[in-house]
Amino acid sequence: MHVPFLQRIVAGAACLSLLLVCCPLLADEPADAAVERTRKTVRMLDDVYKSAVVLITQHYVNDSDDLPAGTAAIALFDAVKKKGWHEVRLLDASGEPIDDKNSPQDAFEKQAVAQLKAGKNWFEQVVEKEDKKYLRAATPIPVVLEKCTMCHENYKQFRGAQPIGALSYTIPIE
Ligand code: HEC
Repeated sequence: MHVPFLQRIVAGAACLSLLLVCCPLLADEPADAAVERTRKTVRMLDDVYKSAVVLITQHYVNDSDDLPAGTAAIALFDAVKKKGWHEVRLLDASGEPIDDKNSPQDAFEKQAVAQLKAGKNWFEQVVEKEDKKYLRAATPIPVVLEKCTMCHENYKQFRGAQPIGALSYTIPIE
């Protein structure tokens, strides 16, 4: 069939613009998959770290002179950060931390704690630092054991799933 010249140009331009619109969308797909993979890693780490703190508290922390699992966790997080794997911070959400350095510090941490206290069980943001992308994510810590109140007197007023703390992750998206 004979297609007039002008019509061919119009059709060509339409194809080209479709391609230009679609390309960035296609390029976004692997990035989304990478974010989802990173979320899964955070969920796994979160479970491992929290299970370890609970098990250590249950089996090794018997009076207020014993090394708290929280202190051990902070030492572990420092070691993990120094090795360049990822960053995790143990945050206070009760308003009365034992150590002030554990209070939410930057805008992300403050917003995360507010959202978790409002009932969310996940808060995240994708950030860029020196051309690298990171997932920042925060998860709640409730008063999981009666024993927690042995050193944290103020936790007695918190019930059920209400968070008294949070874990705040910064992890590279690869
Ligand atoms: C033996 C005492 C002790 C027990 C038991 C204990 N903690 Fe802690 N916790 C501490 C100390 C001390 C720190 C401060 C650690 C630091 O900053 O080095 C701390 C820090 C924390 C923080 C960070 C905010 C803050 O107060 O500085 C959270 C959240 C926390 N603990 C949660 C818990 C939970 C949940 C439990 C029960 C599973 C628990 N703790 C049991 C002593 C204890």
